[in-house]
Amino acid sequence: MPAIVLVGAQWGDEGKGKATDLMGSDVDYVVKFNGGNNAGHTIVIDGEKFALHLLPSGILTPTCIPVIGNGVVIDLAVLFQEIDGLEARGVDTSKLLVSANAHLIAPYNRTLDKVTERFLGSRRIGTTGRGIGPTYADKMSRTGIRVQDIFDEGILRQKVEAALDFKNQAFAKIYNRRAVSVEETVAELLSYADRLRPMVADTSRVLEEALDAGKNVLLEAGQATLLDVDHGTYPFVTSSNATAGGACTGSGIPPTRVSRVIAILKAYSTRVGEGPFPTELHDDMGEFLRKTGAEYGTTTGRPRRCGWVDTVVGRYATRINGVTDFVITKLDVLTGLEEVPVCVAYEIDGVRHDQMPVGQSDFHHAKPIYETLPGWWEDISACRRFEDLPPNAQAYVLRLEELIGARVSAIGVGPGREAIIERHPLL
Ligand code: GDP
Ligand code: IMO
Ligand code: MG
Repeated sequence: MPAIVLVGAQWGDEGKGKATDLMGSDVDYVVKFNGGNNAGHTIVIDGEKFALHLLPSGILTPTCIPVIGNGVVIDLAVLFQEIDGLEARGVDTSKLLVSANAHLIAPYNRTLDKVTERFLGSRRIGTTGRGIGPTYADKMSRTGIRVQDIFDEGILRQKVEAALDFKNQAFAKIYNRRAVSVEETVAELLSYADRLRPMVADTSRVLEEALDAGKNVLLEAGQATLLDVDHGTYPFVTSSNATAGGACTGSGIPPTRVSRVIAILKAYSTRVGEGPFPTELHDDMGEFLRKTGAEYGTTTGRPRRCGWVDTVVGRYATRINGVTDFVITKLDVLTGLEEVPVCVAYEIDGVRHDQMPVGQSDFHHAKPIYETLPGWWEDISACRRFEDLPPNAQAYVLRLEELIGARVSAIGVGPGREAIIERHPLL
């Protein structure tokens, strides 16, 4: 059986967690392949709310094996807090597998994330402050600490020493902070080793065997296309590959195994943190979307910036990820509007752009060109078939489908697991 990739089409928080959870019972393995506890996925099951950060959303499905892939960065304190929180609520987390090659977020990288942001001042990225960027930077500069390192104290000490050699200079000389103790860092990381050991596996191998045995494997992205370090609005991005390509490097599954790419697109747009956002609304409509859509960060509680849907971004997501199916979420939030504007292109210095501009500076001052569609008033939260939707809501979805260039296979009409319209099977 082939592998399926699930990604966010915009700037995150599209409802990836809900979509993964929706497919949960048909999927044997759910693999988180990038990011760390910067992610926040809210999933509502029978009215009960779960907020996941580091664990794959498949953890809420009893039949599913959740996997943290090699592309993820792990804060072990957060991992065990999240596991304990779920266990206390009756969720079985015992099947969780963790890649031996995943990198660990050392405590000094959490500190570095916060001090660099402060240092950047008005040029800050608006990170989640979880140590994500510095940990990926260590991985790339080959001074990172991996899961497997905490099972060999000698190696761990050497690696922490090597990492702190430079960092302690920076802490003292640039950031005016106390040096970080090698011994305290080693002791903290070692304190998790016994509990972590039984979960650690060669996850790439496990997944290869699962695929050979005909199992369904879902590769679930954190963050989203425009937050991807290569394809997003750099430098206002996260530090990993959140697009479909990252699913292969971050899990050890080869591209030839992937048969389908599902992208989640919110019926409007949101963004947390700094960076360009052409359709952002600074008026009452923005406030309406934030209030009605409950657009406050699952991880940091920050109010999300809100705006109309941007199909230039949607088309870009289709191209970069090779999207085969879209899930449009939060259509219910648009209920009650007289008209719904859809961004179809940008105007940049008097020139129309139907595709993402090449230059980042152009994107920063792109003005959206809108097409305005008629709204609908009827409550759609109980609709379960496409035909049940009011004609104007159907027309909105069909127009988006046309503009983003891949079929819309499911539509979210509420936060609950059941609040979904399936037009084409996702599996
Ligand atoms: P993720 O990071 O992509 O998993 O998304 P988040 O969980 O951060 O944000 C999506 C929010 O929208 C969550 O609070 C979900 O419960 C909620 N949600 C998901 N789908 C729908 C939908 O179709 N309608 C409504 N009203 N809420 C939804
Ligand atoms: P999910 O998986 C929305 C944003 C941060 C910041 C930038 C870099 O829930 O969609 P980082 O801490 O990753 O170095 O921050 O990326 N960001 C997200 N925004 N949803 C997320 O995750 C995000 N993860 C990171 O706000 O702008
Ligand atoms: Mg989120």
